[in-house]
Amino acid sequence: MKLCCVPVPTHAVFALTCVFVISASAQQGEVESGTRRKVKRLLSFQRYCHASRLLRGLVPHTPGSLHLLDDDYLGQAAHMLSKVGTWNFDIFLFDRLTNGNSLVTLMCHLFNVCGLIHHFQLDMVKLHRFLGMVQEDYHSQNPYHNAVHAADVTQAMYCYLKEPKLAEQLSPLDVFLGLMAAAAHDVDHPGVNQPFLIKTRHHLASLYQNTSVLESHHWRSTVGMLRESGLLSHLPADISQDMEQQLGSLILATDISRQNEFLLTFREHLDNQDLDLQLASHRHFMLQIALKCADICNPCRVWELSRQWSERVCEEFYRQGDLERKFDLEISPLCNQQADSVPAIQIGFISYIVEPLFEEWHRFTEPSLLSQTMMGHLHKNKARWSCLRCAHTPSDVQAHSHADEPNPKGGGGEGENIP
Ligand SMILES: *[C@@H]1O[C@H](CO)[C@@H](O)[C@H](O)[C@H]1NC(C)=O
Repeated sequence: MKLCCVPVPTHAVFALTCVFVISASAQQGEVESGTRRKVKRLLSFQRYCHASRLLRGLVPHTPGSLHLLDDDYLGQAAHMLSKVGTWNFDIFLFDRLTNGNSLVTLMCHLFNVCGLIHHFQLDMVKLHRFLGMVQEDYHSQNPYHNAVHAADVTQAMYCYLKEPKLAEQLSPLDVFLGLMAAAAHDVDHPGVNQPFLIKTRHHLASLYQNTSVLESHHWRSTVGMLRESGLLSHLPADISQDMEQQLGSLILATDISRQNEFLLTFREHLDNQDLDLQLASHRHFMLQIALKCADICNPCRVWELSRQWSERVCEEFYRQGDLERKFDLEISPLCNQQADSVPAIQIGFISYIVEPLFEEWHRFTEPSLLSQTMMGHLHKNKARWSCLRCAHTPSDVQAHSHADEPNPKGGGGEGENIP
């Protein structure tokens, strides 16, 4: 993979992230309808594939296949679960040990240890059915937005829910919603971002009027699966409706174009010291923040895990860029493999998105052991990407590269530079 000859990214790329997302709808030109059809077919959503697989009599891969595994593998997976609350938990290894069932296995375990099955009197068969559907609806062919990312975010969320500052105040409902939202927050992600869906006139873009298109779809898909599985059907209608609404509010908070809105509110609360976690509304806000942190926590993990996520997310961007090239569309920012290197993308992402949020989270936890660990990794990983960028920059380019020089490629942010 070539990482060289890349200009240093400037503030512009990431500062304009939100502007780009908001203005994207206004800028996109007509796309020839034949192209549109081809792109749509390429992105045909997983649920339809399942339907046709079922029609063809093919049995989808289900968590039931777990019993085929070697006892030794299951033993190792069970051993890993005994340390599920540790920050260096290796979700890639866990996914291999569970034969690709990391999300279902992790969620069942967490629901048990958090006492949620007992508290909400959940039917284990329905729970398993629901989680199996969620896991299946993630696209395993996406390098990044797949069920392992969902499991990773869920594991991070669990760590955050255990933060002393939060844990004592949270109700079982809070914990239930936090874990559910984490597990389902990217379900049926097509592996391309919102601007792409808008410019190719994807049906989801018109359905959700070009606003939080992906997040709305993740949420509505989750609600569909909740109802189909009947997981909450034993609860009074007003309670289960409230749960669905709160899940929506949590999943929609992961829309990166709303990053500043949340960051500013969070900072204001910390400055005024007016967070009152006895209030359900304040706890809900902190669940939104915790989920946002979990969603973008990759750079706060130990280097070996962090690096794998970085390469995966960039691979997904590059694939979108390749699709755009193939269909003569403008290549989106950060999606051009020839111009946007992994280290450059990561340094921009860390500097303008991850650091500002985690600095406030660090402050909120006062700071906890975990947040000190995360900040340590964050700074080390950023330094490491800087080294890699320099090492791969030819000397003639390097001589002219300074972070505060204007970006020769011009501005333009990108909506989904965030996992
Ligand atoms: C969404 O964006 C497309 C493409 O720019 C535009 O034609 C359409 O009118 C927009 N829809 C809404 C509801 O804004």
